[in-house]
Amino acid sequence: MKNLQNKHILLGVTGGIAAYKGAELIRRLQDSGAEVRVVMTRAATEFITPLTMQALSGFPVSLDLLDTETESVMGHIELARWADLVLVAPASANFLAGLRQGRGDDLLTTLCLAATCPIAVAPAMNQAMWGNVATQENCAGLRRNGVIFFGPDEGLQACGEIGQGRLLDVAHIVEHTCAIFPSNLLTGKTVMITAGPTREAIDPVRYISNHSSGKQGYALAEAAVEAGAKVLLISGPVALAVPDRVTVINVVSADDMYAAVMENITECDIFIGVAAVADFKPVAAAVQKIKKQHDTEPRTMTLTLVENPDIIASVAALPTPPFLVGFAAETENLLTYASEKLNRKGLDLIVANDVADSRIGFNSDNNGTTIISKDKVTPLAVASKRQVSVQIIQVIADLLNTRELSK
Ligand SMILES: Cc1cc2nc3c(=O)[nH]c(=O)nc-3n(C[C@H](O)[C@H](O)[C@H](O)COP(=O)(O)O)c2cc1C
Repeated sequence: MKNLQNKHILLGVTGGIAAYKGAELIRRLQDSGAEVRVVMTRAATEFITPLTMQALSGFPVSLDLLDTETESVMGHIELARWADLVLVAPASANFLAGLRQGRGDDLLTTLCLAATCPIAVAPAMNQAMWGNVATQENCAGLRRNGVIFFGPDEGLQACGEIGQGRLLDVAHIVEHTCAIFPSNLLTGKTVMITAGPTREAIDPVRYISNHSSGKQGYALAEAAVEAGAKVLLISGPVALAVPDRVTVINVVSADDMYAAVMENITECDIFIGVAAVADFKPVAAAVQKIKKQHDTEPRTMTLTLVENPDIIASVAALPTPPFLVGFAAETENLLTYASEKLNRKGLDLIVANDVADSRIGFNSDNNGTTIISKDKVTPLAVASKRQVSVQIIQVIADLLNTRELSK
């Protein structure tokens, strides 16, 4: 995916152990279509050579503010004007302090002062430096001023300590960078997404549910918002933060989810059913907690289940259904079962999802999927649920576009 096509990213690299990751970052940003120019602080050049960064970016690396040669080529004002985003990764504690104070005593801080584009920073430092009150106050002030923070991450640090302050991994920095530039693929569209599991009550304390984490549905909601859509998320019980600019309706059971969907669906252009809705529920939930029986042998218990409403089939049966996308989580015969579901339920697209593989699917951060439409099967490489979502949104937008053009 070329989410950064035609984008100019000015990569600032400061003096820290993680400076070497700047080299990988250049490559990954370029893979996403960006043109990257690099500015390094003097301290950064002690950790990685400007020659490496120049070879990878394909452009001379800018180092000094007061340099007659660079001033005649691309000085601080021109670099600031050129950039669509200034991304400082890794950002040292010293750089963050300088940026907070509005200092202009080197090229990087000066061009940040001159930049009118967004500024994003990916801090990387020892956990005590990150936790220091001065650093925290600087970061709070920068956030208030609109500086975007990517991380830092938590974990083992180069100094051997464990804690917060690690540079966010490069793939996530690129994902967050892409998110700064909305694609506008779904501008003007309203998208409803169902996500997570449902819980079917047995009694007031017990329920039947499944392993769905909601991560794929939430990632799709985020990707749809970034593509310019208005997003309504109907969510089963999950432990996830609702993405910015997404409206959420929280539900518990399949019946609740059905009601929330049917109440709001008429305003929607696209419906994406990602939720793992329970197919069955107990015929009636006991009003009181079911007590253990001690008198009869063998000790068994029988639950009678009844089918839940089929949400996606009900949406498909509407007089003017929205563009319909379903998910098929299967443990075997993935493509056959998914294609059958596509046809049986009258979907426009189905995303087939192999939940037998524990590295992907339920609860994992990654997914390996195949997108199936009436005339095309598109396997997607195993990738983060975010990356998979961006690709699914692209396919939906392409198909919608073709459909609207052929009207
Ligand atoms: C070996 C070594 C590793 C360092 N690693 C970091 C680091 O990861 N993060 C950080 O904020 N500072 C780190 N520092 C301190 C910075 O290099 C120092 O504050 C420097 O002045 C930063 O300059 P700059 O912000 O202009 O790049 C390190 C210093 C040394 C000697």
